[in-house]
Amino acid sequence: MKLLKEGKAKKIFISEQKGFLIQYFKDDATAFNSKKKDSFEGKGILNNKITSSIFTYLNNNNIQTHFVKKINDREQLVKELNIIPLEVVMRNLTAGSFTTRLGQKRGEKISPPILEYYLKSDELNDPLINKSHILYLKLASKDELEDIENKTILINKLLSKFFNDLNIDLVDFKLEYGKLENDLILADEISPDNCRLWDKDTKQSLDKDLYRNNTGNILTAYNEVLKRIENV
Ligand code: TMP
Repeated sequence: MKLLKEGKAKKIFISEQKGFLIQYFKDDATAFNSKKKDSFEGKGILNNKITSSIFTYLNNNNIQTHFVKKINDREQLVKELNIIPLEVVMRNLTAGSFTTRLGQKRGEKISPPILEYYLKSDELNDPLINKSHILYLKLASKDELEDIENKTILINKLLSKFFNDLNIDLVDFKLEYGKLENDLILADEISPDNCRLWDKDTKQSLDKDLYRNNTGNILTAYNEVLKRIENV
């Protein structure tokens, strides 16, 4: 298989089927723009399973996603898109860079949830940008931005319900979108690597913050998330 590109946690291969790609989940974990880097045996398998379940749920709820099917432990068949180089972050509770940037307490409800855009650029360290910047940089049109906003609000509602049923608070998450002709389609992954997930009772993190902050074992936490998904 021919490698198309390699990211921090995934590789993308060209598929034999035209218009489709293979998304491969690695075991690598990084934080702080790769200043911290490690490998956790089996993380990729867990994230492939978790992402496959969540994208299937979204597909079944009329959200267009790139996910076609899980092929094996580490690979998914996905639609080939023109990826928009934006990280779309939605926040339901205060945490992470929101608390540090704005001097806010952690764990406060944000109502209505706050949507943020970051430019996907390792060189620039993914800066926070606004809609005017996005239009200036021609990353998306006004209509596309409206579409991104409406889809992200809908996805937040669906994901919040999904995790609520697992006794988990969806604190925040990051999405990436791509275009296929005129359609805006959800891409990338949704896993504990790019969501903050807190157990509702203990408020324990079940996500990559355990690795970012050296506060626990991510494999144990990701396994717990998968176990709850599979037991529904
Ligand atoms: P932040 O609080 O660090 O800005 O993160 C917000 C959300 O985005 C959180 O769920 C983690 C996720 N995220 C990524 O998926 N990739 C990244 O590079 C960063 C910084 C955050």
